Amino acid sequence: MAHPDPGEAFDAASDAASGRVAVLVPAAGRGERLGPVDGPVDGPVVGPAYAKALRPIAGVAMLIHAVRSLTAAPSVGLVVVAAPPADFDAVRALLDAGVTVVAGGATRSDSVRRALTALPAGYDVVLVHDAARPFVPPSVTEAVVQAVRAGHDAVVPVLPVADTIKRVTADGRVAETLPRTGLYAIQTPQGFRRSVLEAAHAQPVADGAAVTDDAGLVERLGLPVWTVPGADAAFKVTRPDDLRRAEALLVAVPGGTPTQPRVGIGTDVHAVDPARACWLAGLHWEGVPGLSGHSDGDVVAHAICDALLSAAGLGDLGSQFGTGDPRWADAAGADLLAETARLLATAGFNIGNVAAQVIGNAPRIGTRRATAQDALSAALGGAAVSLSATTTDGLGLTGRGQGVAAVATALVVRSEGPAVRLAR
Ligand code: CTP
Ligand code: MG
Repeated sequence: MAHPDPGEAFDAASDAASGRVAVLVPAAGRGERLGPVDGPVDGPVVGPAYAKALRPIAGVAMLIHAVRSLTAAPSVGLVVVAAPPADFDAVRALLDAGVTVVAGGATRSDSVRRALTALPAGYDVVLVHDAARPFVPPSVTEAVVQAVRAGHDAVVPVLPVADTIKRVTADGRVAETLPRTGLYAIQTPQGFRRSVLEAAHAQPVADGAAVTDDAGLVERLGLPVWTVPGADAAFKVTRPDDLRRAEALLVAVPGGTPTQPRVGIGTDVHAVDPARACWLAGLHWEGVPGLSGHSDGDVVAHAICDALLSAAGLGDLGSQFGTGDPRWADAAGADLLAETARLLATAGFNIGNVAAQVIGNAPRIGTRRATAQDALSAALGGAAVSLSATTTDGLGLTGRGQGVAAVATALVVRSEGPAVRLAR
Protein backbone atom coordinates (compact mmCIF):
# COMPACT_ATOMS: atom_id res chain seq x y z
CA MET A 1 0.00 0.00 0.00
CA ALA A 2 0.88 3.61 -0.41
CA HIS A 3 3.49 5.08 -2.57
CA PRO A 4 7.18 4.38 -2.34
CA ASP A 5 9.62 7.23 -2.21
CA PRO A 6 9.21 9.14 -5.47
CA GLY A 7 12.98 9.10 -5.90
CA GLU A 8 13.89 10.46 -9.33
CA ALA A 9 10.48 12.05 -9.77
CA PHE A 10 10.90 14.13 -6.66
CA ASP A 11 11.51 17.74 -7.48
CA ALA A 12 11.74 19.82 -4.36
CA ALA A 13 11.67 22.98 -6.44
CA SER A 14 8.40 22.05 -8.13
CA ASP A 15 5.43 24.34 -7.70
CA ALA A 16 3.49 21.51 -6.15
CA ALA A 17 5.96 21.11 -3.31
CA SER A 18 4.97 24.45 -1.86
CA GLY A 19 1.95 25.55 -3.91
CA ARG A 20 -1.48 26.22 -2.54
CA VAL A 21 -4.20 23.59 -2.65
CA ALA A 22 -7.56 23.83 -4.42
CA VAL A 23 -10.30 21.23 -4.62
CA LEU A 24 -12.62 20.92 -7.60
CA VAL A 25 -15.98 19.41 -6.67
CA PRO A 26 -18.01 17.99 -9.56
CA ALA A 27 -21.59 18.19 -8.30
CA ALA A 28 -23.61 18.48 -11.49
CA GLY A 29 -24.84 14.88 -11.78
CA ARG A 30 -28.58 14.16 -11.73
CA GLY A 31 -28.37 11.12 -9.44
CA GLU A 32 -30.27 8.77 -11.77
CA ARG A 33 -29.30 5.73 -9.71
CA LEU A 34 -30.52 7.36 -6.52
CA GLY A 35 -33.98 7.63 -8.02
CA PRO A 36 -36.74 10.08 -7.20
CA VAL A 37 -37.26 11.64 -3.79
CA ASP A 38 -39.84 9.75 -1.73
CA GLY A 39 -42.04 11.91 0.44
CA PRO A 40 -42.45 15.67 0.56
CA VAL A 41 -39.44 17.79 -0.36
CA ASP A 42 -38.23 20.88 1.35
CA GLY A 43 -35.70 22.73 -0.72
CA PRO A 44 -34.70 23.52 -4.26
CA VAL A 45 -36.26 21.04 -6.68
CA VAL A 46 -35.85 20.85 -10.42
CA GLY A 47 -37.75 18.28 -12.40
CA PRO A 48 -38.92 15.07 -10.78
CA ALA A 49 -36.01 14.84 -8.36
CA TYR A 50 -33.35 16.84 -6.62
CA ALA A 51 -29.94 16.95 -8.18
CA LYS A 52 -28.02 14.35 -6.14
CA ALA A 53 -25.67 16.92 -4.62
CA LEU A 54 -28.66 18.79 -3.18
CA ARG A 55 -30.31 15.76 -1.61
CA PRO A 56 -30.41 16.36 2.13
CA ILE A 57 -28.59 14.18 4.65
CA ALA A 58 -29.90 14.96 8.14
CA GLY A 59 -31.39 18.13 6.71
CA VAL A 60 -28.24 19.42 5.01
CA ALA A 61 -27.43 19.13 1.31
CA MET A 62 -24.93 16.37 0.47
CA LEU A 63 -22.74 18.96 -1.26
CA ILE A 64 -22.53 21.03 1.91
CA HIS A 65 -21.39 17.99 3.89
CA ALA A 66 -18.79 17.30 1.20
CA VAL A 67 -17.48 20.88 1.17
CA ARG A 68 -17.35 20.97 4.97
CA SER A 69 -15.42 17.69 5.03
CA LEU A 70 -12.93 19.08 2.54
CA THR A 71 -12.42 22.43 4.25
CA ALA A 72 -11.85 20.61 7.54
CA ALA A 73 -8.50 19.60 6.01
CA PRO A 74 -6.03 22.36 6.93
CA SER A 75 -4.25 22.38 3.56
CA VAL A 76 -7.33 23.16 1.49
CA GLY A 77 -7.32 26.81 0.45
CA LEU A 78 -9.97 27.04 -2.26
CA VAL A 79 -13.02 25.06 -3.32
CA VAL A 80 -14.52 25.26 -6.81
CA VAL A 81 -17.93 23.61 -7.18
CA ALA A 82 -19.38 22.56 -10.54
CA ALA A 83 -23.11 22.93 -9.91
CA PRO A 84 -26.00 21.48 -11.86
CA PRO A 85 -26.73 24.34 -14.31
CA ALA A 86 -30.45 24.29 -13.46
CA ASP A 87 -29.67 24.62 -9.74
CA PHE A 88 -26.84 27.12 -10.06
CA ASP A 89 -28.57 29.83 -8.02
CA ALA A 90 -29.60 27.40 -5.29
CA VAL A 91 -26.03 26.10 -4.97
CA ARG A 92 -24.58 29.63 -5.00
CA ALA A 93 -26.95 30.61 -2.19
CA LEU A 94 -26.02 27.56 -0.10
CA LEU A 95 -22.30 28.20 -0.14
CA ASP A 96 -20.13 30.82 1.47
CA ALA A 97 -18.93 33.58 -0.85
CA GLY A 98 -15.38 32.19 -0.55
CA VAL A 99 -16.38 29.12 -2.54
CA THR A 100 -16.27 29.49 -6.34
CA VAL A 101 -19.28 28.07 -8.17
CA VAL A 102 -19.39 27.33 -11.90
CA ALA A 103 -22.06 25.63 -14.01
CA GLY A 104 -21.22 21.96 -14.55
CA GLY A 105 -21.32 20.12 -17.87
CA ALA A 106 -23.01 17.15 -19.48
CA THR A 107 -20.52 14.60 -18.16
CA ARG A 108 -18.43 14.40 -15.01
CA SER A 109 -15.28 15.15 -17.05
CA ASP A 110 -16.95 18.23 -18.56
CA SER A 111 -17.82 19.43 -15.07
CA VAL A 112 -14.23 18.98 -13.87
CA ARG A 113 -12.93 20.82 -16.94
CA ARG A 114 -15.23 23.77 -16.31
CA ALA A 115 -14.12 23.96 -12.69
CA LEU A 116 -10.47 23.73 -13.77
CA THR A 117 -10.97 26.65 -16.16
CA ALA A 118 -12.24 28.78 -13.27
CA LEU A 119 -9.23 27.99 -11.08
CA PRO A 120 -7.08 31.07 -10.44
CA ALA A 121 -3.30 31.03 -10.72
CA GLY A 122 -1.30 30.08 -7.66
CA TYR A 123 -3.02 26.79 -6.88
CA ASP A 124 -0.49 24.23 -7.99
CA VAL A 125 -1.91 21.23 -6.15
CA VAL A 126 -5.38 20.40 -7.42
CA LEU A 127 -7.67 17.82 -5.90
CA VAL A 128 -10.87 16.55 -7.48
CA HIS A 129 -13.57 15.31 -5.12
CA ASP A 130 -17.06 13.99 -5.86
CA ALA A 131 -19.88 15.83 -4.12
CA ALA A 132 -21.36 12.34 -3.86
CA ARG A 133 -18.80 11.48 -1.14
CA PRO A 134 -20.04 13.65 1.74
CA PHE A 135 -17.83 12.39 4.58
CA VAL A 136 -14.23 12.12 3.44
CA PRO A 137 -12.03 12.31 6.56
CA PRO A 138 -9.60 15.27 6.55
CA SER A 139 -6.78 12.78 7.14
CA VAL A 140 -7.40 11.25 3.70
CA THR A 141 -7.44 14.68 2.03
CA GLU A 142 -4.20 15.59 3.81
CA ALA A 143 -2.54 12.30 2.84
CA VAL A 144 -3.35 12.96 -0.82
CA VAL A 145 -1.99 16.51 -0.58
CA GLN A 146 1.20 15.34 1.11
CA ALA A 147 1.82 12.71 -1.55
CA VAL A 148 1.45 15.30 -4.34
CA ARG A 149 3.69 17.72 -2.46
CA ALA A 150 6.26 14.94 -2.12
CA GLY A 151 6.54 14.86 -5.90
CA HIS A 152 3.85 12.48 -7.19
CA ASP A 153 1.99 13.78 -10.23
CA ALA A 154 -1.22 11.91 -9.46
CA VAL A 155 -2.46 10.29 -6.26
CA VAL A 156 -5.66 8.37 -5.47
CA PRO A 157 -7.07 7.07 -2.17
CA VAL A 158 -7.81 3.36 -2.38
CA LEU A 159 -9.51 0.58 -0.43
CA PRO A 160 -8.81 -3.11 -1.04
CA VAL A 161 -11.94 -4.72 -2.46
CA ALA A 162 -13.73 -7.07 -0.08
CA ASP A 163 -15.95 -8.89 -2.57
CA THR A 164 -14.83 -11.36 -5.17
CA ILE A 165 -14.90 -9.56 -8.50
CA LYS A 166 -16.06 -11.27 -11.68
CA ARG A 167 -16.56 -9.99 -15.17
CA VAL A 168 -20.06 -10.77 -16.40
CA THR A 169 -21.29 -10.67 -20.01
CA ALA A 170 -24.25 -8.52 -21.08
CA ASP A 171 -26.50 -11.60 -21.07
CA GLY A 172 -25.60 -12.44 -17.47
CA ARG A 173 -22.94 -15.16 -17.81
CA VAL A 174 -19.76 -15.03 -15.77
CA ALA A 175 -16.88 -14.58 -18.16
CA GLU A 176 -14.00 -14.62 -15.70
CA THR A 177 -13.02 -14.31 -12.05
CA LEU A 178 -10.39 -11.73 -11.37
CA PRO A 179 -7.77 -12.54 -8.74
CA ARG A 180 -8.64 -10.27 -5.84
CA THR A 181 -5.06 -9.64 -4.84
CA GLY A 182 -4.07 -6.25 -6.14
CA LEU A 183 -7.64 -5.08 -6.76
CA TYR A 184 -8.60 -1.80 -5.15
CA ALA A 185 -11.66 0.41 -5.15
CA ILE A 186 -10.73 4.00 -5.98
CA GLN A 187 -12.09 6.94 -4.03
CA THR A 188 -11.76 10.70 -4.11
CA PRO A 189 -10.28 13.22 -3.50
CA GLN A 190 -7.72 12.44 -6.15
CA GLY A 191 -4.76 14.79 -6.11
CA PHE A 192 -2.65 16.13 -8.97
CA ARG A 193 0.09 18.46 -9.85
CA ARG A 194 -1.95 21.12 -11.63
CA SER A 195 -0.14 20.98 -14.94
CA VAL A 196 -0.65 17.22 -15.06
CA LEU A 197 -4.40 17.47 -14.43
CA GLU A 198 -4.67 20.18 -17.08
CA ALA A 199 -2.79 18.06 -19.61
CA ALA A 200 -4.92 15.04 -18.74
CA HIS A 201 -8.13 16.96 -19.39
CA ALA A 202 -6.80 18.63 -22.52
CA GLN A 203 -6.13 15.37 -24.37
CA PRO A 204 -8.81 14.18 -26.76
CA VAL A 205 -10.79 11.24 -25.38
CA ALA A 206 -13.01 9.22 -27.68
CA ASP A 207 -16.72 9.36 -26.93
CA GLY A 208 -17.72 6.33 -24.90
CA ALA A 209 -14.22 5.72 -23.54
CA ALA A 210 -14.59 4.27 -20.04
CA VAL A 211 -12.94 7.04 -18.05
CA THR A 212 -14.84 7.50 -14.81
CA ASP A 213 -12.19 9.32 -12.81
CA ASP A 214 -9.47 11.88 -13.34
CA ALA A 215 -6.60 9.54 -12.57
CA GLY A 216 -7.81 7.44 -15.50
CA LEU A 217 -7.04 10.36 -17.78
CA VAL A 218 -3.56 10.68 -16.31
CA GLU A 219 -2.99 6.96 -16.95
CA ARG A 220 -3.86 7.61 -20.61
CA LEU A 221 -1.01 10.11 -20.71
CA GLY A 222 1.26 7.25 -19.65
CA LEU A 223 2.10 8.89 -16.31
CA PRO A 224 2.22 6.94 -13.06
CA VAL A 225 -0.64 7.24 -10.59
CA TRP A 226 0.14 6.50 -6.96
CA THR A 227 -2.04 5.45 -4.06
CA VAL A 228 -2.65 6.34 -0.43
CA PRO A 229 -5.02 4.52 1.95
CA GLY A 230 -8.65 5.62 1.58
CA ALA A 231 -11.35 5.28 4.23
CA ASP A 232 -14.70 3.54 4.60
CA ALA A 233 -16.18 6.87 5.65
CA ALA A 234 -15.40 8.28 2.21
CA PHE A 235 -17.99 6.00 0.60
CA LYS A 236 -19.94 7.27 -2.40
CA VAL A 237 -23.67 7.85 -2.30
CA THR A 238 -24.98 6.17 -5.41
CA ARG A 239 -28.11 4.16 -4.57
CA PRO A 240 -30.92 4.76 -2.03
CA ASP A 241 -29.30 2.48 0.57
CA ASP A 242 -26.19 4.67 0.50
CA LEU A 243 -28.32 7.67 1.38
CA ARG A 244 -29.82 5.78 4.32
CA ARG A 245 -26.30 4.81 5.46
CA ALA A 246 -25.22 8.44 5.29
CA GLU A 247 -28.27 9.53 7.27
CA ALA A 248 -27.72 6.83 9.93
CA LEU A 249 -24.07 7.79 10.27
CA LEU A 250 -24.89 11.36 11.18
CA VAL A 251 -27.55 10.40 13.66
CA ALA A 252 -25.10 7.98 15.31
CA VAL A 253 -22.36 10.54 15.79
CA PRO A 254 -22.08 11.26 19.55
CA GLY A 255 -22.62 14.92 20.22
CA GLY A 256 -24.52 15.19 17.00
CA THR A 257 -24.10 17.52 14.14
CA PRO A 258 -25.04 21.18 14.39
CA THR A 259 -28.16 20.53 12.38
CA GLN A 260 -29.55 17.81 14.62
CA PRO A 261 -32.40 18.77 16.90
CA ARG A 262 -31.59 19.35 20.57
CA VAL A 263 -34.02 19.07 23.48
CA GLY A 264 -34.04 20.99 26.73
CA ILE A 265 -35.89 20.90 30.03
CA GLY A 266 -36.93 23.60 32.51
CA THR A 267 -38.77 23.74 35.83
CA ASP A 268 -39.91 26.62 38.00
CA VAL A 269 -41.81 27.01 41.29
CA HIS A 270 -43.05 30.20 42.95
CA ALA A 271 -44.85 30.66 46.27
CA VAL A 272 -48.43 31.89 46.19
CA ASP A 273 -48.72 35.55 47.24
CA PRO A 274 -52.38 36.64 47.40
CA ALA A 275 -51.26 40.28 47.54
CA ARG A 276 -50.03 40.13 43.93
CA ALA A 277 -51.86 39.89 40.63
CA CYS A 278 -51.65 36.47 39.00
CA TRP A 279 -49.63 36.36 35.79
CA LEU A 280 -49.28 32.89 34.33
CA ALA A 281 -48.49 31.66 30.81
CA GLY A 282 -48.29 35.24 29.61
CA LEU A 283 -51.86 36.08 30.73
CA HIS A 284 -53.39 37.98 33.62
CA TRP A 285 -55.77 35.76 35.61
CA GLU A 286 -58.51 37.81 37.29
CA GLY A 287 -59.47 36.72 40.81
CA VAL A 288 -56.62 34.21 41.17
CA PRO A 289 -53.94 34.74 43.86
CA GLY A 290 -50.63 35.80 42.38
CA LEU A 291 -47.12 34.42 42.74
CA SER A 292 -44.15 35.92 44.53
CA GLY A 293 -40.81 36.60 42.88
CA HIS A 294 -38.31 39.11 41.54
CA SER A 295 -40.31 39.18 38.28
CA ASP A 296 -44.04 38.77 37.69
CA GLY A 297 -43.76 35.18 38.98
CA ASP A 298 -44.90 33.58 35.70
CA VAL A 299 -43.60 30.04 36.32
CA VAL A 300 -44.73 28.84 32.89
CA ALA A 301 -42.77 31.52 31.07
CA HIS A 302 -39.75 30.89 33.29
CA ALA A 303 -39.84 27.10 32.79
CA ILE A 304 -40.03 27.64 29.02
CA CYS A 305 -37.08 30.06 29.10
CA ASP A 306 -35.03 27.49 31.03
CA ALA A 307 -36.03 24.73 28.60
CA LEU A 308 -35.00 26.83 25.62
CA LEU A 309 -31.71 27.91 27.16
CA SER A 310 -30.92 24.35 28.20
CA ALA A 311 -31.68 23.02 24.70
CA ALA A 312 -29.32 25.57 23.19
CA GLY A 313 -26.66 24.99 25.84
CA LEU A 314 -26.90 28.62 26.94
CA GLY A 315 -27.23 28.08 30.69
CA ASP A 316 -30.45 29.08 32.42
CA LEU A 317 -32.52 32.06 33.52
CA GLY A 318 -30.36 32.69 36.56
CA SER A 319 -27.12 32.77 34.59
CA GLN A 320 -28.56 34.81 31.71
CA PHE A 321 -30.74 37.33 33.51
CA GLY A 322 -29.69 37.19 37.20
CA THR A 323 -32.32 37.58 39.89
CA GLY A 324 -30.43 40.61 41.19
CA ASP A 325 -30.40 42.46 37.86
CA PRO A 326 -32.72 45.50 38.24
CA ARG A 327 -33.48 45.36 34.50
CA TRP A 328 -35.55 42.28 35.17
CA ALA A 329 -37.29 43.40 38.40
CA ASP A 330 -41.00 42.78 37.89
CA ALA A 331 -40.20 41.65 34.34
CA ALA A 332 -43.16 40.25 32.46
CA GLY A 333 -42.90 36.58 31.52
CA ALA A 334 -43.51 37.55 27.91
CA ASP A 335 -40.51 39.89 27.95
CA LEU A 336 -38.24 37.19 29.33
CA LEU A 337 -39.50 34.82 26.63
CA ALA A 338 -38.82 37.38 23.92
CA GLU A 339 -35.33 38.05 25.24
CA THR A 340 -34.64 34.31 25.47
CA ALA A 341 -35.79 33.83 21.88
CA ARG A 342 -33.43 36.64 20.86
CA LEU A 343 -30.51 34.96 22.67
CA LEU A 344 -31.22 31.70 20.86
CA ALA A 345 -31.47 33.41 17.49
CA THR A 346 -28.15 35.17 18.12
CA ALA A 347 -26.56 31.82 18.92
CA GLY A 348 -27.95 30.45 15.66
CA PHE A 349 -30.87 28.38 16.93
CA ASN A 350 -34.39 28.07 15.57
CA ILE A 351 -37.12 27.02 17.99
CA GLY A 352 -38.91 23.85 16.91
CA ASN A 353 -41.66 23.56 19.51
CA VAL A 354 -42.23 24.03 23.20
CA ALA A 355 -44.46 22.08 25.61
CA ALA A 356 -45.23 23.30 29.12
CA GLN A 357 -47.29 21.95 31.99
CA VAL A 358 -48.64 23.87 34.97
CA ILE A 359 -48.74 21.96 38.28
CA GLY A 360 -51.14 23.62 40.72
CA ASN A 361 -54.71 24.13 41.89
CA ALA A 362 -55.33 27.49 40.25
CA PRO A 363 -55.81 28.95 37.77
CA ARG A 364 -57.70 26.37 35.68
CA ILE A 365 -55.84 26.42 32.39
CA GLY A 366 -58.39 24.58 30.27
CA THR A 367 -60.74 27.54 29.92
CA ARG A 368 -58.08 29.78 28.32
CA ARG A 369 -55.65 27.23 26.92
CA ALA A 370 -55.72 28.50 23.34
CA THR A 371 -55.34 32.13 24.40
CA ALA A 372 -52.40 31.26 26.67
CA GLN A 373 -50.71 29.18 23.95
CA ASP A 374 -51.10 32.06 21.50
CA ALA A 375 -49.65 34.55 23.99
CA LEU A 376 -46.62 32.34 24.68
CA SER A 377 -46.14 31.63 21.00
CA ALA A 378 -46.31 35.33 20.13
CA ALA A 379 -43.70 36.13 22.77
CA LEU A 380 -41.41 33.55 21.14
CA GLY A 381 -41.84 34.96 17.67
CA GLY A 382 -44.37 32.38 16.51
CA ALA A 383 -42.92 29.05 17.70
CA ALA A 384 -45.49 26.33 18.40
CA VAL A 385 -46.34 26.13 22.12
CA SER A 386 -48.62 23.60 23.79
CA LEU A 387 -49.81 24.06 27.35
CA SER A 388 -51.30 21.49 29.70
CA ALA A 389 -52.03 21.43 33.42
CA THR A 390 -52.42 19.06 36.32
CA THR A 391 -53.13 19.09 40.06
CA THR A 392 -51.30 16.88 42.53
CA ASP A 393 -54.27 15.36 44.33
CA GLY A 394 -53.95 17.72 47.29
CA LEU A 395 -50.37 16.61 47.97
CA GLY A 396 -47.26 18.68 48.35
CA LEU A 397 -46.76 22.42 48.12
CA THR A 398 -48.84 22.72 44.99
CA GLY A 399 -51.59 20.49 46.37
CA ARG A 400 -51.82 22.56 49.54
CA GLY A 401 -52.01 25.73 47.44
CA GLN A 402 -48.70 27.10 48.77
CA GLY A 403 -47.15 27.39 45.35
CA VAL A 404 -47.52 26.83 41.64
CA ALA A 405 -44.98 24.88 39.57
CA ALA A 406 -44.37 24.45 35.86
CA VAL A 407 -42.23 22.14 33.77
CA ALA A 408 -41.36 22.65 30.12
CA THR A 409 -39.50 20.96 27.31
CA ALA A 410 -38.21 22.61 24.17
CA LEU A 411 -36.80 21.41 20.90
CA VAL A 412 -34.38 23.60 18.98
CA VAL A 413 -32.40 23.23 15.75
CA ARG A 414 -29.32 25.17 14.88
CA SER A 415 -30.08 27.22 11.82
CA GLU A 416 -27.88 26.91 8.75
CA GLY A 417 -25.28 29.60 8.39
CA PRO A 418 -22.84 29.81 5.51
CA ALA A 419 -21.49 26.38 4.76
CA VAL A 420 -17.81 27.13 5.13
CA ARG A 421 -15.37 29.90 5.73
CA LEU A 422 -12.15 29.87 3.78
CA ALA A 423 -9.44 32.13 5.02
CA ARG A 424 -6.40 30.49 3.50
N1 CTP B 1 -21.08 14.84 -11.95
C1 CTP B 1 -20.91 16.12 -12.50
N2 CTP B 1 -21.39 16.40 -13.75
C2 CTP B 1 -22.01 15.45 -14.46
C3 CTP B 1 -22.17 14.14 -13.93
C4 CTP B 1 -21.67 13.88 -12.66
O1 CTP B 1 -20.36 17.01 -11.84
N3 CTP B 1 -22.47 15.76 -15.66
C5 CTP B 1 -20.59 14.59 -10.57
C6 CTP B 1 -21.71 14.12 -9.66
O2 CTP B 1 -22.47 15.22 -9.18
C7 CTP B 1 -20.97 13.40 -8.56
C8 CTP B 1 -19.72 12.89 -9.26
O3 CTP B 1 -19.67 13.55 -10.53
O4 CTP B 1 -20.61 14.24 -7.51
C9 CTP B 1 -19.76 11.37 -9.42
O5 CTP B 1 -20.85 11.03 -10.24
P1 CTP B 1 -21.99 10.00 -9.84
O6 CTP B 1 -21.76 9.44 -8.51
O7 CTP B 1 -22.18 9.10 -11.02
O8 CTP B 1 -23.26 10.98 -9.68
P2 CTP B 1 -24.47 11.19 -10.65
O9 CTP B 1 -23.99 11.27 -12.06
O10 CTP B 1 -25.24 12.34 -10.12
O11 CTP B 1 -25.32 9.86 -10.40
P3 CTP B 1 -25.92 8.85 -11.50
O12 CTP B 1 -24.75 8.37 -12.30
O13 CTP B 1 -26.59 7.82 -10.68
O14 CTP B 1 -26.89 9.68 -12.32
MG1 MG C 1 -23.00 9.48 -12.99
